[in-house]
Amino acid sequence: MWTLSLLHFVLPVLSQLALPQPPFLPPNPSSGAQAFTGSAQWNTLLGNLLFFYEAQRSGNLSSTNTRVPWRNSSAVDDGKDVDLDLSGGYYDAGDFIKATFPLSFTLMSICWGAIDYGQGYDMSNQTAYLDAMLRYGLDWLIKAHPSPSTLYVLVGDTNLDDAYWGGDQGIPTNRPSYAINDTKPGTDAAAGASAAFSACAALYSNRGFNGSYSNHPASLQNASYAQTLLTHAEQLYTFAVNSTGGQKTYQSSVPAVAASYGSSSYGDELTIAALFLAWASGASAGDASATYYQDAQRYFKQYQLNNENDVFNWDSKTPGIYVLFAQIAQSSSGLGGNLTAWQAECERYFDAIVNNDGPAFFTNDGLLYYPGDSDDATLNPALNAAMLLTRYSQMASTPERQAAYAKFAQSQLDYVLGKNSMSVPYIVGSNPNSPQNPHSAMASGGNDIDNIDTSPPQEAYVLYGAVVGGPDKHGKFYDIRSDWPETEIALDYNAPMLTLAAMHVMNDTNVPFFTSLQAGAYDKTVLIALAVILSVVGAVILGLLIWYLCILIRK
Ligand SMILES: *[C@@H]1O[C@H](CO)[C@@H](O)[C@H](O)[C@H]1NC(C)=O
Ligand SMILES: *[C@@H]1O[C@H](CO)[C@@H](O)[C@H](O)[C@H]1NC(C)=O
Ligand SMILES: *[C@@H]1O[C@H](CO)[C@@H](O)[C@H](O)[C@H]1NC(C)=O
Ligand SMILES: *[C@@H]1O[C@H](CO)[C@@H](O)[C@H](O)[C@H]1NC(C)=O
Ligand SMILES: *[C@@H]1O[C@H](CO)[C@@H](O)[C@H](O)[C@H]1NC(C)=O
Ligand SMILES: *[C@@H]1O[C@H](CO)[C@@H](O)[C@H](O)[C@H]1NC(C)=O
Ligand SMILES: *[C@@H]1O[C@H](CO)[C@@H](O)[C@H](O)[C@H]1NC(C)=O
Ligand SMILES: *[C@@H]1O[C@H](CO)[C@@H](O)[C@H](O)[C@H]1NC(C)=O
Ligand SMILES: *[C@@H]1O[C@H](CO)[C@@H](O)[C@H](O)[C@H]1NC(C)=O
Repeated sequence: MWTLSLLHFVLPVLSQLALPQPPFLPPNPSSGAQAFTGSAQWNTLLGNLLFFYEAQRSGNLSSTNTRVPWRNSSAVDDGKDVDLDLSGGYYDAGDFIKATFPLSFTLMSICWGAIDYGQGYDMSNQTAYLDAMLRYGLDWLIKAHPSPSTLYVLVGDTNLDDAYWGGDQGIPTNRPSYAINDTKPGTDAAAGASAAFSACAALYSNRGFNGSYSNHPASLQNASYAQTLLTHAEQLYTFAVNSTGGQKTYQSSVPAVAASYGSSSYGDELTIAALFLAWASGASAGDASATYYQDAQRYFKQYQLNNENDVFNWDSKTPGIYVLFAQIAQSSSGLGGNLTAWQAECERYFDAIVNNDGPAFFTNDGLLYYPGDSDDATLNPALNAAMLLTRYSQMASTPERQAAYAKFAQSQLDYVLGKNSMSVPYIVGSNPNSPQNPHSAMASGGNDIDNIDTSPPQEAYVLYGAVVGGPDKHGKFYDIRSDWPETEIALDYNAPMLTLAAMHVMNDTNVPFFTSLQAGAYDKTVLIALAVILSVVGAVILGLLIWYLCILIRK
């Protein structure tokens, strides 16, 4: 089995679409305060969002890094500890681990969006960058899957990584590679990677959902690449379903992932993997495709995924399953599915969101907030909801719902683009009021872990296009580099924003909200003073409390 993996060393660099000449480069943030035509600003936003992923690349960049002069090759020896080449791929967030589970979700989400709103990528001339972005991730995921039942799920040591703050030239070299396999299975991670491969196989085979969509997938069709992706999807699905080691969450096999991306369950991954595989393998697969679809229906029942009100994110995929079932039912693809029933499931879920009738609440300035899931990254759950609502709104059963869903999605998008109590567009480099201090060791230019905020005083490089964690639950954003829940960036944070931006490129004559924000709309100094006062007051109160407790105990 391991000899098969040698094949991966001799594969040539897989060719992608030719990149535009001259290349797209993010304009100065000040241009984001100018009201160009709507589409020009949306084009730039989409371009910037993709640019972020180029800055997150790991591995040997000598032939691929054309646009980010401040990035160098790094971690080129990844995988040597297990005699494999696991170099390449993307750094997960502000630090240097490579994490397969959230990467898989990111790729699945972006490919799904490029199936539905691919015309947006085409119209803005970003399709070649989309292709490059996807292949850089997918080609790494192929290397991480060197035999049918082996998948590398983490490269790097989360603890070592947390103890390092610096550029890409000093990354701690002890970067262990962790895999799941038949003795150490991980149903969620295997099924999650399978879903990423399937969703992207559908994109590369130009399999759009029909129905009320007049759109077509992004123009990067490539039958041979699609077939490669589909083969990995099938193998990983079989591994997830039939591993001789049984089914379990991947952190119970690889405890090292628990510190960063432990998974809560695997029923949702099994279902979405089966569903995307049914769609990707297409009518030509006949029985196989139908079998995958039946599997999806069976898992959906077995794991009782109906009637949930959960967030949609890297760990929790059920809301996406409702929408995907509805899209497949609407496409009359021969797979079946009762559109009316799936609409009812979707609308139960979405009505609870827009009518404030579920587990989430709204911050004072209007952001959808899920207690728990939103605590460490407020924007991501809201953006994922906006993305699903945008996609579903056209399929809603009544004009009232269509309007309500589209309006709600727009409100959350506007919030992220600066219509909030801080007047901050939460995308780095898009406007003068954008965050200046994203929690990214590479972009900061600093290497003093004890003085992340002040060394250097100004962030060295602008991490264009990065969506940050977001404000706190009171809507306050302090733009402090060490404050990772507010300022960290991550692969999965950008994913829903890409799909939303692609849709707006196609379909919005209005400019993004941030163009109305002039420099200075966000005055950080006042806030920081407030933060200092609050923490001093807090410290005094805490001191008094401890003093009081001490007295009590002595009595
Ligand atoms: C399709 O993808 C394959 C595999 O990456 C590549 O070798 C080939 O050149 C691509 N074909 C076209 C027409 O882009
Ligand atoms: C990166 O790849 C190039 C060939 O594309 C090679 O010349 C160079 O030595 C490699 N760099 C590293 C750091 O491995
Ligand atoms: C896309 O490229 C074409 C051909 O080079 C050009 O005519 C068009 O203006 C470009 N569109 C955008 C939005 O950059
Ligand atoms: C890349 O190398 C240059 C030159 O050593 C350095 O100035 C820059 O900070 C490095 N980039 C990162 C992200 O560490
Ligand atoms: C699975 O990986 C573990 C190391 O985590 C290893 O001990 C075991 O031999 C592997 N099993 C198979 C079937 O490769
Ligand atoms: C959707 O596509 C299928 C073929 O894949 C076709 O049979 C069906 O008529 C299409 N439905 C609509 C509503 O366009
Ligand atoms: C799992 O194993 C069963 C029993 O051998 C087989 O019928 C089924 O097709 C397998 N499923 C997959 C997805 O390979
Ligand atoms: C589809 O679902 C709806 C709502 O659950 C139900 O009323 C209808 O009978 C179902 N249709 C079929 C053909 O099963
Ligand atoms: C485009 O916008 C119109 C009106 O704003 C809306 O009716 C339509 O559903 C949108 N299309 C897409 C693809 O979202």
